[in-house]
Amino acid sequence: MTADFSHKPVLTGDLVRLRPFRPEDLPDIAAALDDPEVRRLTGSEGHPAHDPDALARWYGSRNEQPDRLDLAVTDLATGRCVGEVVLNERDEANRSCNFRTLIGPAGRNRGLGTEALRLVLGHAFDHLGLHRVSLEVYAFNPRARRVYEKVGFVAEGVLRQALRDGDTWVDATVMSVLAPEWADHHGRP
Ligand SMILES: CC(C)(COP(=O)(O)OP(=O)(O)OC[C@H]1O[C@@H](n2cnc3c(N)ncnc32)[C@H](O)[C@@H]1OP(=O)(O)O)[C@@H](O)C(=O)NCCC(=O)NCCS
Repeated sequence: MTADFSHKPVLTGDLVRLRPFRPEDLPDIAAALDDPEVRRLTGSEGHPAHDPDALARWYGSRNEQPDRLDLAVTDLATGRCVGEVVLNERDEANRSCNFRTLIGPAGRNRGLGTEALRLVLGHAFDHLGLHRVSLEVYAFNPRARRVYEKVGFVAEGVLRQALRDGDTWVDATVMSVLAPEWADHHGRP
C-alpha cells in the first residue's frame, strides 16, 4: 500500500476538528508559534522569529504537499485554529514518518492535544497504512511526554544533550508507535 499524504482529510472528534489550513488561520497559528512556551518546548528558541511573509507562504502551501500532512487543530468550542499536527519526514520504503505538534495557549491543558493525537494517529495507521510513527520529546517537557505515553508512544532511546537551553543541555527521548500496537489499543494502551 502507498501512503497517500497528498489527500488532506478532515478528522473530527468531540473536542477538536483537524482540517487543512485556511488563509484565515494565519493569525491564530502565528500566535501559537510565537508563544514563548511553544518556542522553548519545540526547541525553536535558538531560531529567529517568524517572518510574516514566509509564514504566509508556508501555511499557504501546506495543502499542496504530496509527501507530508499538515493539519490545523481547531477547537470545536470556538472554531478557531489553536495549533497543528504534522506527519513529516516520510520514509516510503519503510512505511514510517515523523510526528510533531504544537498547541498554543488558547488550546492547551483541556484534552485537545490528546484527542488530536489519537485522530491523526488513527489516520496514519488505519488510512495511510503506516507501520511506524516516531517523534522526539525534550526532557523538560513532561506534559508532552505524558500525552505521548497516554496515546501509546513507547520510549526507545535518548539523544543525549541534543538541545542547548540557555546555559545547559537537554536530552531528547525518541518515542514511537508501531502498527500492531495501534491495532491492539487504538490510542488507549
Ligand atoms: C504537548 C501538547 C500537544 C499537549 O496537548 P494538551 O492539549 O495541552 O494536552 P492534554 O490537555 O490533552 O493532556 C495533558 C496531559 O498532561 C498532563 N500534564 C500537564 N502538565 C504536566 C506536567 N507538568 N507534567 C506531567 N504531566 C502533565 C495533564 O494532567 C494531562 O494528562 P491527564 O489527561 O492524564 O491528566 C501541548 O501542550 C503543546 O503543544 N504544548 C506546547 C508545545 C509542545 O510541547 N509541543 C510538543 C513538543 S514535543
